[in-house]
Formats: sequence, C-alpha cells, structure tokens
Amino acid sequence: MSSPKQLKVGMVGGGGGAFFAHPHQKAIHLDGTRRVVAGALRTRPEAALEDAANWPYPIQGYGSFAAMIDAQANLPESERLDYVVVVTPNFAHFAPALKAVEAGIPVFCEKPLTLNHHEAVQLKAAVEKANVPFAVAHTYLGHWSSRLSRHIVCSGLLGDVRWVDASYQQGWLAGKAEESGMQQAEWRTDPKRSGASNCGGDIGTHALMQLRYVTGLDVSKVSARLEVFVAGRSLDDHFTTYCELSNGGKALVRASQIAIGHKNDLSIEVNGSQGTLIWKQEEPEAVRILLPGQPDRVYWRGEVAGNDGFLGDLPEDLMAEPTLPSGHGEAFHDALGRLHRDFETDVRAYNAGQSFSCDGSKYANVEDGRIGLAFIDAAVSSSAADGSWMTLAAE
Ligand SMILES: NC(=O)c1ccc[n+]([C@@H]2O[C@H](COP(=O)([O-])OP(=O)(O)OC[C@H]3O[C@@H](n4cnc5c(N)ncnc54)[C@H](O)[C@@H]3O)[C@@H](O)[C@H]2O)c1
Repeated sequence: MSSPKQLKVGMVGGGGGAFFAHPHQKAIHLDGTRRVVAGALRTRPEAALEDAANWPYPIQGYGSFAAMIDAQANLPESERLDYVVVVTPNFAHFAPALKAVEAGIPVFCEKPLTLNHHEAVQLKAAVEKANVPFAVAHTYLGHWSSRLSRHIVCSGLLGDVRWVDASYQQGWLAGKAEESGMQQAEWRTDPKRSGASNCGGDIGTHALMQLRYVTGLDVSKVSARLEVFVAGRSLDDHFTTYCELSNGGKALVRASQIAIGHKNDLSIEVNGSQGTLIWKQEEPEAVRILLPGQPDRVYWRGEVAGNDGFLGDLPEDLMAEPTLPSGHGEAFHDALGRLHRDFETDVRAYNAGQSFSCDGSKYANVEDGRIGLAFIDAAVSSSAADGSWMTLAAE
C-alpha cells in the first residue's frame, strides 16, 4: 500500500432508518485503511445534519450532497474526501454521482446505476472524461467464491458455455409491504423513484451481473416477461428473461420478490460442454463442480489448491486474497468489504497520479452499470411487446 493514511469516505444517504448505508459503512471500516468522515445522509438539510450529529462515531455532517462536494474544494488537500459512496434510492444516484465525478472525486455507487439508460450513458461519459475510479456496488462479485467461479468458467475448464440459469429469488414483497410504512418497499414500488422495473432493476441486475462476471459473456438479446402478482402495484414483482449470450449460448436471468420463503436466494448454474458449475449466495463459501462420470466436487474457500486433476495453476492474485481461515464463515459484509478494498487500490493509484485498472475484474464499473440499465430497458420493451426479442443498446 503506497500510503499508510486512511482513505476518507463521504456517504450520500444513510440517515432515517436507511438499510444499505450500514453494510457499506461496516465494509468501509473492515480493513482499518478507510473510514467514513462525512455524510449528506438525507434529503431534508436539517434532518441530514441531525442524523450526522447522531452517527455512531464523529463525522462531518452536510445538509446536502451538493454542499458536501462543494466544500471539498475549500479544504486542504489532506482533508479532502478520497471517495464518495452513493447509497440513496435509485432516482437519487445520478445527481450526486455526476457532481462528485465532475469534481474529480471517485465514486462507489449503488445499483442499478441510475434511474434509466439515458442517465447511465451521461454518467459513463462523465467518468471517462474525468478519468476517475468508479465502482457499482454489485456486492456478490466480492465473494472469493465468485472470483474462483469466474476463473473456472473464463479459463475454459467447463468447455463452452451452453446454458446459464442466473436467478435471484426473494419473498419479501409477496404482500403489500409498501402500505405498511416500510420505506424500502415504498420507493422500490414507485416508478418515479425506482425506475421502469422494480424487481428487475433491484435484483434482476444482480443476477445479470453475476452471469456476466462469472462467464465473461454478455447478454445480447432478451425476450422478457415482467409480471405483477400483487394487485395494485404498477411495477413488476416478478421478472423473467430468456437471453441470447454473446457466444451463441442461452440463459435465463430471472428474479422474484413474491417467492415466499426465499430470502436472498441468488444463484447461478453454468452448464458448459464439459461440466457444470453451481454457486449459491446463501452458501457463499462453496463452489460445486459437476463433471461427467466423476463424483461431484465441492470447493470450499480456504481449502482450494491448484493442480488437483481439475483445477490447473490458480492465479496468484486469487490465492493472495486476504481471507479468514476456512470454516470461519465469510459472507455478505466480507464480500462488500472486498469490493471496497479493491476500489481502495484504484483510488490510491489515482491519488498518486498513477494509472488504475477499474476494468471490471474486481468490482463492477460504470460500463457494467450502464449495461444493467440497457438490459432493463430491453426487458421492459420486450415485455410490452409480448416477449418479442429486443437487442441491448450499445450506448
Ligand atoms: N448492493 C446491494 O447488495 C444492495 C442491497 C440493498 C440496497 N441496495 C441499493 O442501495 C440503495 C439504497 O437502498 P436502501 O434499501 O438502503 O434504501 P433506504 O430507503 O433504506 O435508504 C435510502 C437512504 O437515502 C437517503 N436519501 C434519499 N434521497 C437522498 C438525497 N437526495 N440525499 C441524501 N440522502 C438521500 C434516505 O434518507 C435514506 O437514508 C438503492 O439503490 C438499492 O438498490 C444495494
């Protein structure tokens, strides 16, 4: 690490009963090399300042994200934010992310990247112009087992990818949670704050990203059905896409919020011409490999060695990842922490005036975020056209 100083992080969102700001702040602090020092935690300035004053440790509160970002220019360089985390509802990602990027501040932004594809294209252009590190918080890429899965599939150990089933099943919106005063359900089911798809945008994009990350393939076309099972909702609570992949393979990318009993059941199965890979986020320490005529193999994090008759040499950076000893479970916070750790590497390089990779191999980048919105757009159009095939927009 080039500098022992802790990176300083500013949060946009996180006050007033927020959910995901809290996993972020835990993940930021996981290594001791990053800390949250500032926050614009809510929309209303007085409430934002009050919540900052009541944050569990001292942070500088700001009444708005604009005030927080504008203030940076007047601070001595050693006190400026090293990056900003945007963890607001979907409609409130674009403005703070754009403002930070234009001020030259790296951004770690929540998914889906923006409210719509048009905003995503603008944001991507701004990131390229400013040449700042930019991450999209597809948490599950940060599991060590996701990285092993990517290595296995992308290095061809399962042969050609023929079929992928990427699925994210939840049951928490099987009833009208949005009428119970639950803020997370309220904004997700509101098209103005959520976007053109609720279920697809919220968790279908995670399933898509898992597919793209593990296989290294893109979805080129979709035939989709967005369905509403809970009467009175205007956005989908069940999302199914049949996809064509960039190598000619096929896939299902699907998600549900009405699958009672399913919690955060994200899974991926990849059927290659020589074998199958199965990974489940609710059991994130294990990768299952099924090979014809052989006993099934289960690779547990911390117990994987190369050259075992299936795996060849394993990449040095994969084996050098800091992890807990096997059997001491790593899970959600560790995965998000790994993304922040890899982002930190790029931010430190940026601060030192060096080149940084931000290439999607360690965390999702702005182009991955844009593709998520292109996928949603294509799925929404396809569903409206009775499942007709739609091509994902290139830009
Ligand atoms: N990566 C993941 O695994 C994951 C998991 C859950 C949620 N998310 C994403 O995180 C984001 C937030 O979701 P959540 O469930 O935490 O929502 P939430 O409703 O719990 O929290 C949203 C927060 O944003 C604040 N806020 C809203 N507008 C703001 C503004 N203009 N300025 C400052 N603060 C503002 C709210 O006051 C609140 O603190 C969403 O985009 C969601 O998709 C990602």
